[in-house]
Amino acid sequence: MTTAIMTRQHTPALLREVVEALAVRPGGRYVDCTLGGGGHAEAILEAASPDGELLGIDLDPDALAATRQRLAAFGDRVAFVEGNFSRVGDLCRERGFAPVQGVLFDLGLSSLQLEEESRGFSFQREGPLDMRFSPRQGPTAADIVNTYSQEELADLLWRYGEERQSRRVARRLIEERPFRTTTQLAKAVEQAVGRRARGAIHPATKTFQALRIAVNQELMHLEAALVQAHGLLGFGARLVVISYHSLEDRTVKDFLRQEARDCVCPPGVPVCVCGHRATLRLVARGAVRPSPTEVAANPRARSARLRVAERLPSAAV
Ligand SMILES: C[S@@+](CC[C@H](N)C(=O)[O-])C[C@H]1O[C@@H](n2cnc3c(N)ncnc32)[C@H](O)[C@@H]1O
Repeated sequence: MTTAIMTRQHTPALLREVVEALAVRPGGRYVDCTLGGGGHAEAILEAASPDGELLGIDLDPDALAATRQRLAAFGDRVAFVEGNFSRVGDLCRERGFAPVQGVLFDLGLSSLQLEEESRGFSFQREGPLDMRFSPRQGPTAADIVNTYSQEELADLLWRYGEERQSRRVARRLIEERPFRTTTQLAKAVEQAVGRRARGAIHPATKTFQALRIAVNQELMHLEAALVQAHGLLGFGARLVVISYHSLEDRTVKDFLRQEARDCVCPPGVPVCVCGHRATLRLVARGAVRPSPTEVAANPRARSARLRVAERLPSAAV
C-alpha cells in the first residue's frame, strides 16, 4: 500500500492561503495536525526557512512513512508523530514543542486515501468496507453497518450525513446486510434512494460521509483538538482550520466565535455572570474559499472553507 501511495500525490487545498493565514515566518514553530501527503507542511517549512520547525501529526502510518521521505531534505527541522490530533497539546508538550506560532488542521481524508481501494473510503472503487484513518483503531464501517439497529443507522445517517431519506436507507441496509464491500453498499443505497438528477452528487455520498465520520469519531476528536490546539498558541499565534462539510465547519465556527467573545452568557441574562474573556481575534470574518481557478484545477478543493484566528496577547496561555 505504501508503494502505491508514494507514486501519487495529494494536491493540497488553499496552499498559498494557508501559508498567509498562518503568517509563517523564519524561525517560527508550527504544528500540522493533518500531515497527510505533506504538501502544506512542505510549504510551511519553506516559508519558515532557514530555521523554522514543524511537528506533523497523522493517524495514518502509511501517509507518515511516505511524507517522511518527501520532507527528508528538511532534516531535524521536521518531526513526525503518529497519533490522534485530539491529543495535539499532549503530543507537543511531551516533545517540548510548545508554545507554537501556528497550528493547522486540514480536515477529512487525502485523495491518496480516497483512491486506495483497500482503505474502503470510495463508493467508486471496489474494496473492503473499512474507512479507518488508522488500522490500529476500533470498528470498521462494515462493523457499524452490519451490527447497528435500524434506528441507530437511521440516526447516524441523519446526523452525520444529513441524509433526508435516512429511514428509507437504513431499512434497505438492514434488509440487505451483511455488507462486505464499498460497491455492494453503494448499490444498496442507490436502490433505496433512486438515482439523483444529472449533475447532483452520487446517491451514496451522504451515507459514505456519515459512516466515515462515525468510524473515525471525527466531530468528537475535532472538538477536543480545537481546545488542545488553542492551549498551545503563543501570543499572536494563528489557528487555521480547513473543513470540507457543514458539520465540521459549524464546529470550527462555533468554537472560534465563542473564544473571540468577551461574554458567553445566554441571551437575556441582564448582567454578565460568566466572566469569559476573548482569547482569540477572528482574522477573517467569514470563511476563505478556493478561487474558481483552483477548483477547476483541483475539483476536490471545491467544498474547502478556511477559517483563521489569532491568539490575543491579553489573556495568559
Ligand atoms: C486532507 S488530508 C491532509 C492533507 C495534507 N494537508 C497535505 O497537504 O497533503 C487529512 C489527513 O488528516 C488525517 N487525519 C484525519 N483525522 C485525524 C485525526 N483525528 N488525527 C490525526 N490525523 C487525522 C488523515 O489521515 C489524512 O492524512
